[in-house]
Amino acid sequence: MILVVGGAGYIGSHLVKDLVEKEEVVVLDNLTTGHREAVDSRAIFVKGDLGNEEDLQMIFRSYPIKAVMHFAANSLVGESVVDPLKYYQNNVASTLTLLKVMMKFQVKNFIFSSTAATYGIPNVEIIDESTMTAPINPYGHSKLMVEQVLADFSKSYGLNYVVLRYFNAAGAHDSAVIGESHDPETHLIPIVLQQLLGSREKVSVFGDDYDTPDGTCIRDYIHVTDLAAAHILALEALLSGKKSAEVYNLGNGLGYSVKEVIETCEKVTGVKANVEMADRRAGDPARLVASSAKILNELGWKAQRNLEQIIGDAWRWHKEQKY
Ligand code: UFG
Repeated sequence: MILVVGGAGYIGSHLVKDLVEKEEVVVLDNLTTGHREAVDSRAIFVKGDLGNEEDLQMIFRSYPIKAVMHFAANSLVGESVVDPLKYYQNNVASTLTLLKVMMKFQVKNFIFSSTAATYGIPNVEIIDESTMTAPINPYGHSKLMVEQVLADFSKSYGLNYVVLRYFNAAGAHDSAVIGESHDPETHLIPIVLQQLLGSREKVSVFGDDYDTPDGTCIRDYIHVTDLAAAHILALEALLSGKKSAEVYNLGNGLGYSVKEVIETCEKVTGVKANVEMADRRAGDPARLVASSAKILNELGWKAQRNLEQIIGDAWRWHKEQKY
């Protein structure tokens, strides 16, 4: 049985939907940002908090957990600058509680959701895992701190783990039954699609004076189903007994500017966006594009879906958004 912490959230719920085809799954989520409806009915759902040792012990006592996948985190860069305590509490301290209980119950396989924000403002065009980590906000620091904890737990307690550093997760399940739903929404693709559907007046482009070809920020967008597939491969590697203390980037290796994303949304949907130029948003690096060569070489993972498919799937979800 696999414990998925944060399995009611955007990325966690997509992983659960695919993982239940192969494994028995228990989801733990406190539903502060997650959605109960997003959890596949084949998974066991426990409402509880990963910072609460009692909630965790109950799960480890009740179910034969062989691995833990940890998606439960706060993940807004701007909010982390305003309220770092929340980020260090929920992302670092609560993860320590989870790891402590895992060690107590001798559960030693762990998959951790990390982020491109660990790299800060990289001085390379394509980021690989050897690129220096230098976060520029508490969110990135909180994730990198846990990565350090995992390295130490691996050496001292024999924890086997895989860290997955996501670039820009986007898209929705191809069933259109689950998808992205944040409140407030801050991510580019859902904001553009909401504008095209008329629930927003306009899309603000945060800065067109960056050192990029069209002046807007470049990101590497990765379909949430491709992310889920990488987790399943990493899990299979751990369950096959492979010793692991690895970090992998997950991206497409292709960068798209904010303007290119908006144009692709218009092309896919056939609707014209109402766009305005706005000031830069604090903390945005000009360019974040991943090399995912390491996970291709070691686990055979490669992103399968391009930006048009990402936007097409997100569009079908947003048109009938269920939660
Ligand atoms: N953007 C706009 N207008 C908007 C929203 C976003 O121009 O209304 C721009 C942003 O400035 C940025 C790009 O679109 O240049 C992408 O922004 P998102 O908010 O969609 O994504 P981020 O790249 O800021 O954030 C993502 C993850 C974070 C992670 C970060 C790593 O969501 O969790 O990548 O830098 F920390």
